[in-house]
Amino acid sequence: MIKISPSVLASDFSALGAEAERMEKSGADYLHLDVMDGRFVPNITFGAPIIGAIRGKTSLVFDVHLMIDEPLKYISDFKKAGADIITFHIESSSPAGETVDAILKSGCKAGISVKPATPVEEVFPYLDKLSMVLVMTVEPGFGGQSFMHETMKKIKTLRSEIQRRGLEVDIQVDGGINAETVKIAADAGANVFVAGSAVFGAKDSAAVISQLRELAQQAAK
Ligand code: DX5
Ligand code: ZN
Repeated sequence: MIKISPSVLASDFSALGAEAERMEKSGADYLHLDVMDGRFVPNITFGAPIIGAIRGKTSLVFDVHLMIDEPLKYISDFKKAGADIITFHIESSSPAGETVDAILKSGCKAGISVKPATPVEEVFPYLDKLSMVLVMTVEPGFGGQSFMHETMKKIKTLRSEIQRRGLEVDIQVDGGINAETVKIAADAGANVFVAGSAVFGAKDSAAVISQLRELAQQAAK
């Protein structure tokens, strides 16, 4: 199923609660929360306390994208803060199998993300336990970058592996998603679309969310 997950990285940080409410009213499925630690990526955003502070403002699914070096240490903090899906990077220094198990044990759904240069086959050993794989379509760390078309072949490879095993794993794309690139990613096999600047930068976020959803649905047929 197609899902749209606006990234709060492009929102008004002085009014995060109101921004979350606005996304819910605009028809978003998830709220994408980009956690950066200044080590795994060269930027710092926010952590579990901020996520906990906005949890009461919306019933949107909290889609937490951990761009941090030691995700395993913080899984219970993000669960307590109200995360629903926790995605970490396979390139981080935590052991992937243990981290997936800790996420599942916490009661959250687990996702693993790959950076543009990382082969998607690296997530295959964990695929049976995952709800989602996030194929980054930009280098993680910053919003507003351009979509990297070369990542599409990884989505095709992953989609066929998911089908071959008869699994129901979502494929998320993140970075540079807009009315043009959403079609390309959906056609390749992605079904969960993160959009930061495209949604928050628009006057009418509801119109953008429904447009992205329709374009993805058409391309996925
Ligand atoms: C990048 C983040 C993205 C980012 C996407 O490191 O993971 O979620 O907010 O922003 P846009 O949609 O502006 O490329
Ligand atoms: Zn993200």
